[in-house]
Amino acid sequence: MAKKPSRTYVCTNCGAVHAKWAGQCDACGEWNTLEEMAVEPLAASSAAVRGGKGRRVALQALEGEIKLPPRTQTGIAELDRVLGGGLVPASVVLVGGDPGIGKSTLLLQAASKLAGKGERVLYISGEEAVDQIRLRAQRLGVAGAKLDLAASINVADIVATLEAEPDVRAVVIDSIQTMWLETIDSAPGTVSQVRACAFELIRAAKRRSFSLILVGHVTKEGALAGPRVLEHMVDAVMYFEGDRGHQFRILRAAKNRYGATDEIGVFAMTDRGLEEVSNPSALFLAERRGNIAGSAVFAGLEGTRPVLLEVQALLAPKGGDGAPRRAVVGWDTGRLSMLLAVLETRCGLKLSGMDVYLNVAGGLKVAEPAADLAVAAALVSAASGVPTSPGEVYFGEVGLSGEVRQVAQADARLKEAAKLGFDRAVLPRRIARGNTRSRPPEGLHLREIGHISDLVSAEMEAE
Ligand code: TYD
Ligand code: MG
Repeated sequence: MAKKPSRTYVCTNCGAVHAKWAGQCDACGEWNTLEEMAVEPLAASSAAVRGGKGRRVALQALEGEIKLPPRTQTGIAELDRVLGGGLVPASVVLVGGDPGIGKSTLLLQAASKLAGKGERVLYISGEEAVDQIRLRAQRLGVAGAKLDLAASINVADIVATLEAEPDVRAVVIDSIQTMWLETIDSAPGTVSQVRACAFELIRAAKRRSFSLILVGHVTKEGALAGPRVLEHMVDAVMYFEGDRGHQFRILRAAKNRYGATDEIGVFAMTDRGLEEVSNPSALFLAERRGNIAGSAVFAGLEGTRPVLLEVQALLAPKGGDGAPRRAVVGWDTGRLSMLLAVLETRCGLKLSGMDVYLNVAGGLKVAEPAADLAVAAALVSAASGVPTSPGEVYFGEVGLSGEVRQVAQADARLKEAAKLGFDRAVLPRRIARGNTRSRPPEGLHLREIGHISDLVSAEMEAE
């Protein structure tokens, strides 16, 4: 019988397991991502299974009483919403994000708030000394919170401490990449260490029934470094995102066993830590200057929440001999090229000799095709030099023949626009069947269009 290999190789990018080392992962195609990992011998566990040591599990009917997990609210509403209503006991949340984005700040604030409600909370840092955490707490104005701190990277010590503290309700580990188990023969941050450390901490959380929050850094490519393999082990994965040049930070759930994954929490980084932003539209539109060509307001949707954003386009005559520039911030480059082609082919707008710059103001990344119409409006406005009406919002998807297509949740978008004082909306024409749109909010005038050329002719007429 062939001898079982005692080592395998795991791709840090996609988590695929390989028997042999290779320069390139053949599952995801990334280079230099394979890392050695020790394999536990399976003999003992399979002997237990075959030896008939297992007990029968109780089988139950599908129909029955449902017990919802109890929740502990952190008191930071933007965080609680993304969690699905608060922290669940014995659950594990992984919070990922670029270094310096504000993960430690967010979790120190949340931990302090929770401790302030009389819960026993531990904040364990492998990155900062206790004094540094105290300084940060002073800066955040939470230095008085009854929070227990520890600076340690030794998971065996941490688990022993947790075993001795039975009333702990929540534990923050900052960060999982710094954690270390003596028994694993590799450096902190490697796949073997990260996995083994997380496994031990998660086991302690399940046994002791506390909520565990793990912080994980993200690589340049945007994946959770090493902990990609962790995503399967935890109950929820959240990303803390934002542009460091901007104030805004967005907490987004990528996986959540106890809640929806499309919710976002919006924060602003101030000199006193993170502040909740309960009305993101007002913030994103705060710096908008009216009466400038090339700007349009998009009525978007982030999760269940409508958000209004400003889309800015700038056209400049192409410099040099090469291809024209297409620079995009906060939107998809491919989608911009498609819209430019549609505007050129279906509406006769001459854009191919122009450099095009597109920006979603505020640093938010928009992934919705519903933004097509707002982007098109910004481009048409930039090309014609006619500003869009300052009280107007846009949403709708644009197809290749220039048709404007329906998008989800028109009502919610219109309501948000009305709430922020907008009085006109340009949106897809209602289709006869499946007409579920209710009456538009008071004071909002709707312009329903079926083709993108309607947008062009209206803008040009205004000239
Ligand atoms: P931090 O929470 O340390 O980031 P992470 O844990 O994700 O690496 O945040 C660090 C940045 O936040 C740092 O550049 C300084 C800034 N910051 C503020 O602007 N205001 C504050 O009150 C605090 C504590 C940090
Ligand atoms: Mg940190």
